[in-house]
Amino acid sequence: MEVVIVPDADAAAEIVAGVIAGVLHARPAPVLGLATGSSPLASYRRLIAAHGRGELSFARASAVLLDEYVGLPPGHPEAYRAFICRELVDRVDLPRERLFGPDVLAADLADACRRYDELIGDLGGVDVQLLGIGADGHVGFNEPGSSLASRTRIKTLTRATRADNARFFENHEREVPRHVVTQGLGTILEARHLLLVACGAAKAEPIARAVEGPLTAMCPASVLQLHAHATVVVDEPAAAGLKLADYYCEAYANKPRWQQL
Ligand code: F6R
Repeated sequence: MEVVIVPDADAAAEIVAGVIAGVLHARPAPVLGLATGSSPLASYRRLIAAHGRGELSFARASAVLLDEYVGLPPGHPEAYRAFICRELVDRVDLPRERLFGPDVLAADLADACRRYDELIGDLGGVDVQLLGIGADGHVGFNEPGSSLASRTRIKTLTRATRADNARFFENHEREVPRHVVTQGLGTILEARHLLLVACGAAKAEPIARAVEGPLTAMCPASVLQLHAHATVVVDEPAAAGLKLADYYCEAYANKPRWQQL
């Protein structure tokens, strides 16, 4: 795992957007794994700006959602498909029909989850999966206790996660759906590159557990320790709990020129 510590959220967004731009330039049919929430927004804004300047095209790309709420009415503005369209897809040239998410309206949800994993395989797998981290160490909506080998499936959000996400529902916690479909930890691990971004002091504890704690279902993000190509980009406040922070900074500062993120 490579840990990149930068001074602030802007610098983190620059690095994350740079990695995604690199994949868009390098791959003939890039597949992006997209997260929602606050953490990726600054990176999305940078990608939109680069597209606006004519430097970046998503025309050959496909994108897959990391997770989706279950039980919101179709077209609800906080559905993750709507969120990603609003914050990225509708503002770049990624063809809307190549934005994929689990079919949370399907009568047979278990089958829809299986089909979603198959679809990701049919696309050739995810080139870069962007991730945030929850206060309880979740990635996607794999809450503590999630199997480290899990596939896409329905999960129940913890009360703490519903309280955290109430800010997207005018602070009405009861409006936050109880259920979600999320890519499983095993599904996430199949992406070729995992790119986790976390900023702010509230992320210091989950980041320390994920990066330097034991591999455990109690901190689902610790599963990144199993991945051969995982990058964690954090600002200084989010890095505050890392024992090896000085080493990560030294390694990054002295990174061989040929070695990219
Ligand atoms: C979002 C997702 C979640 C968030 C996490 C952090 O698609 O899967 O794991 O990344 O809850 O959320 P923010 O970035 O809002 O702090």
